[in-house]
Amino acid sequence: MKIKVSAPGKLMLLGEHAVVYGHPCIVTAVDKRLYVEAEVIDSDEDEIIAPQVKESRFVLETITLFKQKYQIKKRVKIRTKGDFSHNVGLGSSSAVTVATFKALSEIFNKKLSLRQIFELSYEVTLKIQGVGSGFDIAAATFGGVLYFTKGGKVIESLEIKSLPLVVGYSGVKADTPLIVRNLKLKMQNEKLKVKIEKNFVLINKLVKSAKKALVNKNWKELGGLMTEDHELLIRLGVSTEKLNIMVKAALVTGAYGAKLSGAGGGDCMIALVSEDKRRNVETAIKKVGGEIIKINNNAEGVRID
Ligand code: PMV
Repeated sequence: MKIKVSAPGKLMLLGEHAVVYGHPCIVTAVDKRLYVEAEVIDSDEDEIIAPQVKESRFVLETITLFKQKYQIKKRVKIRTKGDFSHNVGLGSSSAVTVATFKALSEIFNKKLSLRQIFELSYEVTLKIQGVGSGFDIAAATFGGVLYFTKGGKVIESLEIKSLPLVVGYSGVKADTPLIVRNLKLKMQNEKLKVKIEKNFVLINKLVKSAKKALVNKNWKELGGLMTEDHELLIRLGVSTEKLNIMVKAALVTGAYGAKLSGAGGGDCMIALVSEDKRRNVETAIKKVGGEIIKINNNAEGVRID
């Protein structure tokens, strides 16, 4: 039996970095998906063909953990396909991990709940990366727009059908675990720690206000909060010149708000726009060297295709 499963990519809307220290964030799943095909094979080894993901280790560790849990000896073949490259920071590692757990649970007829898939996938991520809140795993598992705290203590689904976002890729691949670790290192200095924690408290407040603005579809207010969040991320030292230029380009062409999305150091920025401003904002981002990635939110979580 061959099974095909897919899980969505993600974009951090607000709250990055602070979420690693126990504050909330808001993440949206996006309609760019990662596909996993799985089957049992008659072989001495597992076979993994995963060109879309940065490290096939995510698939490998997933298979290992799943087999350990259920005492399975049989060999499997896993092949991945994707709507997006691992370079853009849309969360291919988390999507492939989640989709692989789901696929394995189907072919071996082990009923894993979404919560179990989340927990197991988070375990794999922590084993490989050592750091992370698990927000990306939650988006890949549950889909939609989520209000989230570290380790899935809170995972609240927000009913947001359509978010008018423009996404600009900076052309630089970010090393998320490294950026998270560097911030942690900075916090070993007492003075810096106090400063950084003050920023986290401000980000926490922004995220809580943004949750209300989102639910009320108050895009103007939400945009303003996103831009404020970007300023705080600059203060944390995680933004780049290129991301700042792209954010500025979006703001001067009429976006409600704009910010980097994710760890910083590269990857993507996002802008919230009214439909009549979308083209101008996209053109402005392209003019300063960004690449537009077309996405929609309101994406379903992990599913059998
Ligand atoms: O770089 P991304 O898109 O994977 O986002 C990282 C977000 C952080 O808050 C910095 C880390 C995390 O795991 O929450």
